Amino acid sequence: MTIPFEILRTPAAMRARSEDLRRDGKKIAVVPTMGALHEGHLTLLRAARAQADIVILTIFVNPTQFGPQEDLAKYPRDEAGDLALAKTCGIDLAYCPTVDAMYPAGAQTFIEVRELQQPMCGASRPGHFAGVATVVAKLFHATLPHIAVFGEKDFQQLAILRRMTRDLDFGIEIVGVPIVRESDGVALSSRNAYLKPDERVAARALSAGLAAAEAKFKAGERTAEALIAAARAPLEAEALARIDYVELRDATELTPLTTLARPAVLAIAAFVGTTRLIDNRVLS
Ligand code: PAF
Repeated sequence: MTIPFEILRTPAAMRARSEDLRRDGKKIAVVPTMGALHEGHLTLLRAARAQADIVILTIFVNPTQFGPQEDLAKYPRDEAGDLALAKTCGIDLAYCPTVDAMYPAGAQTFIEVRELQQPMCGASRPGHFAGVATVVAKLFHATLPHIAVFGEKDFQQLAILRRMTRDLDFGIEIVGVPIVRESDGVALSSRNAYLKPDERVAARALSAGLAAAEAKFKAGERTAEALIAAARAPLEAEALARIDYVELRDATELTPLTTLARPAVLAIAAFVGTTRLIDNRVLS
């Protein structure tokens, strides 16, 4: 039996609704997003739909995960458009809180996943993952899900949220969904909307680098140095791209590897024009 679609705006209202649903024995899946939905998000919603009775989409552009020089003000916002798109995947509820409802005056409590938040994107975006972990914990407290679905494109974010959920006994199953790509290999991202036409072409260098490294891996290469060099080459040849990092790390602990002897993630962050893009590939 379907429930009437509703948009909840406060933690208290959302939590009361989820408590009712749990009392009725419903299995709840949440898909946390910052809006600007694309096919990648719809894939997450479909995965949630397949595994739960109730699917809750959250849309909240979380100020605490943006640095002072980042794109909070210009981050695309289109709640009505996002909801129309999400409804094509059969969502039941949307949780779209305001900033004031999420962060009342004087809020000063943050969650730190100490080791996992340090390297990679954490090194170039100080405070970012504390903002992500904190807001996701708050979204969990409001929506009370059994399952939460996230994309594997944000690989470090997923590792951090898995660890937070385990360490803090949330009792929520974290589901990771593989990256969705355009036909030319570029990973779908809300930030692709910022790319000018020539930058969109240049953005291919990220996935091209990962594909080249994976080809070397499949041919037997196991040293981090060679795999990273293969991944860097297309970016170094691209005038519009500037590498932030290319790293090979343990897929769970995110510790650096010199030789690939266990499941690893080859992860890239690069600026294309002024837009920072990330991509990754698991090699195992
Ligand atoms: O991946 C995102 O869109 C955000 O980081 C998340 C998980 C919704 C937290 O704001």
